[in-house]
Amino acid sequence: MSLYRNTIWFLNGIQQYTRKGYEATSKDFKTKDFDVSVVGRSYMITGANSGIGKATAMGLAKKGGTVHMVCRNKDRAEEAKSEIVSESGNTEVYIHILDMSQTRKVWEFAEGFKKEYPSLNVLINNAGCMMHKRELNAEGLEMNFATNTMGVYILTQTLIPLLQKSQDPRVITVSSGGMLVQKLRADDLQSEKAHFDGIMVYAQNKRQQVALTEHWANVNPVIHFSAMHPGWVDTPAVSTAMPQFHQMMGDRLRSVDQGADTVVWLALSRAAARKPSGQFFQDRKPVPKHLPLAWTHSSAEEIHSFITQLENLARAVQSHDADPEGHVDASTPQFA
Ligand SMILES: NC(=O)c1ccc[n+]([C@@H]2O[C@H](COP(=O)([O-])OP(=O)(O)OC[C@H]3O[C@@H](n4cnc5c(N)ncnc54)[C@H](OP(=O)(O)O)[C@@H]3O)[C@@H](O)[C@H]2O)c1
Repeated sequence: MSLYRNTIWFLNGIQQYTRKGYEATSKDFKTKDFDVSVVGRSYMITGANSGIGKATAMGLAKKGGTVHMVCRNKDRAEEAKSEIVSESGNTEVYIHILDMSQTRKVWEFAEGFKKEYPSLNVLINNAGCMMHKRELNAEGLEMNFATNTMGVYILTQTLIPLLQKSQDPRVITVSSGGMLVQKLRADDLQSEKAHFDGIMVYAQNKRQQVALTEHWANVNPVIHFSAMHPGWVDTPAVSTAMPQFHQMMGDRLRSVDQGADTVVWLALSRAAARKPSGQFFQDRKPVPKHLPLAWTHSSAEEIHSFITQLENLARAVQSHDADPEGHVDASTPQFA
């Protein structure tokens, strides 16, 4: 089954996820969708110093938005900020230093942000990683899961009250078409049970983001949630984590602006807000969350178990319910 899924996925990808795919679909894009001024609206973007996140920050700054760049490295953040400010002419660009893999720090940051700022219109969960070795963070969580799923969960959950009291609130999560090859595995969030394959763990996290988006849309009707696939984009993440793929695809990869287009569209267009909440987008259109006949659908019980585990982990981190070394218990049956 996984060979079938992977083959179908790759053949689809060559058609759709490449630069050519973008050039074909973008012929139908409506330029007036970007005819908006977003002066006074605020946008938080994680991983905003590089690749798709930086191109998104640039696009939103050019439209007059206030941009909160959430980055883990101060020098890289400052460098990207100066570029954004000088090219956009917008000085409403702020840096926040946060490593999304540090679960407790994510919560502390979001709590602090909520106290300091009266509103946040749009949260863009963009930061992501693909680590090929199984490593744990200070709380004992596997690093890909901590960054791609737990960080996204805690940041979003903590900011939901702030988003809810803001005008036209939206949450966009940069997932990946790679998630199509994975079924949600609620019984092994820490990737302990099978051989550790970084690419598949990443794809599983991206499936988790799509499941979360659907869940959030169901329980928070005031906020517009979307997940999206940027296509295959030439960024440092791809060249470092998947060097062979990067080399093989060469200039068939999309530019960062092409990859960021749908994120920016979801963040600022009125057309995006008119679409139902909770969908998965590619090139400004909702697309299926599952490949045909791929058996990747989850039962309500599996989704419930997944969300309950995230909530329990989040509570453990927030309530200092950790062992003396700061570990939370991520593997015992109480979270299963
Ligand atoms: N490029 C593609 O083909 C592709 C396809 C599907 C999905 N995506 C998704 O697109 C998103 C953006 O990636 P990209 O391709 O634009 O790669 P990128 O240029 O390498 O950007 C990734 C960003 O995430 C940041 N980041 C990573 N780990 C972090 C952490 N623990 N805390 C805070 N920030 C962290 C990076 O910071 P540093 O600069 O400090 O490393 C960087 O700013 C990711 O979620 C990725 O999974 C990309």
